[in-house]
Amino acid sequence: MTVPAKVGVLGGGRMGGGIAHAFLLAGSDVVVVDQPDALETAEAGIRRAIATSVERGTALRSRSDLDAGLRVTADRTALGDRDLVVEAIPEIPELKAATLPAVEELLGPDAVLASNTSSLSIDDLATRLTRPARFLGLHFFNPVPVSTLVEVVAGAATDPALVATAGEWVRALGKTPVTVRDAPGFASSRLGVALALEAIRMLEDGVASAEDIDAAMVLGYKHATGPLRTTDVVGLDVRLGIAEYLHEKLGERFAPPALLREMVAAGKLGRKTGEGFFVWDRPDQP
Ligand code: NAI
Repeated sequence: MTVPAKVGVLGGGRMGGGIAHAFLLAGSDVVVVDQPDALETAEAGIRRAIATSVERGTALRSRSDLDAGLRVTADRTALGDRDLVVEAIPEIPELKAATLPAVEELLGPDAVLASNTSSLSIDDLATRLTRPARFLGLHFFNPVPVSTLVEVVAGAATDPALVATAGEWVRALGKTPVTVRDAPGFASSRLGVALALEAIRMLEDGVASAEDIDAAMVLGYKHATGPLRTTDVVGLDVRLGIAEYLHEKLGERFAPPALLREMVAAGKLGRKTGEGFFVWDRPDQP
């Protein structure tokens, strides 16, 4: 199995740019659609990523082939001939609910529409679509080039054959698919946020320092990064948003701790603001 020949990505930001780059490397012709004021940044970012892959020898296609395989445009109708379109616009429910049917209308009857949503229900997003059997979640992780996990999220109406095919596409990208039924937080956010919230409560209760809580997971459970450092990298505001959503959907065990709310209110959002549970010298340090 290979990746689809013609791929579209709606929203060429942090995730969409990475997704476009991944499909390009795997052999797809890729069209990225973004808003006029975002085109230049989106295109520059993806072309930089292409250059880096070529320099590092991780690209099997030539630089010119990769560059020719990418088109970045504000014209949404350019998605009309795509085999697969991955939506990666901001996590605003109304925006996605309005945009997905408009994109579906442009596509051929066999085309697949996927959302990279990190938390919204695939079934909810599917309610306004006319072909929900051809719709599913493809949840990539950040940063896309180094993250090897993709959650393949099956809605109640998603064709099971499509779920299997999407898993093969993920493997063709050199990543590993995890198949999950549509459920709040899928597999990764639900478990990741549960661990992070407990770590924050432990910090709040003075059980141990942030360093020691993280070290317990890194050294004791072989996690690559501790839950507090991970929260810093993801962004405390992002984590709070997901916790609030899971609290509403799954109950008290996801109630956001007061400390998390206080830190977000104080603008301590983690790596991107220079301070969260840890102090970060440079916003981009690993
Ligand atoms: P971002 O803000 O970096 O990128 C969003 C892009 O969509 C921007 O380039 C923006 O100009 C564009 N856009 C906005 N409205 C549009 C429209 N109507 N048509 C076309 N383009 C439009 O956001 P990011 O972080 O890439 O997130 C995108 C999606 O991926 C969200 O659903 C998010 O939940 C999900 N996600 C984010 C992760 C992360 O760590 N940032 C991880 C996994 C999923």
